[in-house]
Amino acid sequence: MPTNTTDILLDSLPFIQHFRNKIMVIKYGGAAQINPDLKESFAKDVSLLHLLGIKIIIVHGGGKDINLMLEKLQITSEFVNGVRITSKEAMPVVEMVLSGKINKELSNFLNTHGSKAVGINGKDGKIFKAISQDGSFTGNITEVHPQLLDLLLQGGFIPVVAPIAYGDNNPLGYNINADYVACEIAKAVNASKVIFLTDTKGVLDDQGNLITSINQTKFTELKEKNIITGGMIPKLQSCLDCTKHGVEKAHIIDGRIKHSILLELFTSGGIGTEIC
Ligand SMILES: Nc1ncnc2c1ncn2[C@@H]1O[C@H](COP(=O)(O)OP(=O)(O)OP(=O)(O)O)[C@@H](O)[C@H]1O
Ligand SMILES: [Mg+2]
Repeated sequence: MPTNTTDILLDSLPFIQHFRNKIMVIKYGGAAQINPDLKESFAKDVSLLHLLGIKIIIVHGGGKDINLMLEKLQITSEFVNGVRITSKEAMPVVEMVLSGKINKELSNFLNTHGSKAVGINGKDGKIFKAISQDGSFTGNITEVHPQLLDLLLQGGFIPVVAPIAYGDNNPLGYNINADYVACEIAKAVNASKVIFLTDTKGVLDDQGNLITSINQTKFTELKEKNIITGGMIPKLQSCLDCTKHGVEKAHIIDGRIKHSILLELFTSGGIGTEIC
């Protein structure tokens, strides 16, 4: 066996010891789901971590696919601080794309690469409940009941969760930004780590350089200067929130790089932006 392979295996030993039997939440951004090769490397990474004894929960987004479908149907969307304001007309389309297309494709793909994945959304087993602040079908999560997730993890399954919540007197449910779902689930199941895969190297500064580590103060400063905008706002809010509530670490990494999860976990210093 070449020495570097041995070194890699030995270097990863403390990580495996630390995370074995612990829960890791992976947010698989719609923006990172861009080509079949990347999907395959993602599926292999997840299977490997699962076989190493790490309990994985995947939460996925789907912004790009939703935009495409809404455009085809000529339904317009407004965004406020990077979060879609979902109309009554858009809500069934959002659920169809997230739960019907992306969720099933992803869980099936994971299954064909050695995992036992189960695709669900927040309405299943009443995992998460939301309310709307503005009368739209974009919700804020108010309750998380992780029993179904716990059962699936105990049974050796990988839950793949679409970001649709149930609500009182609202059969359509609510669309939730998937970053918030990953954060709320991570807190509810006492996850050790959350990783957000997206379509940038991580959080970038005004020169386009990677910021390797960020905290609340820096986030507020860069948001005020309009350097952090759009979809990066809910992502960083989620990272900061979950690390304040018991999750050891949150990372934003580049889902466009093959095996980015393994690179983050197994290389010293990792990749992307760490939230502390
Ligand atoms: N300072 C910043 N550094 C990096 N990306 C930024 C920054 N400010 C804004 N962004 C934007 O945030 C985007 C990532 O968020 P986006 O919501 O588009 O993707 P996602 O959350 O991975 O996917 P989905 O929303 O479908 O789950 C980047 O593509 C980039 O355009
Ligand atoms: Mg997003």
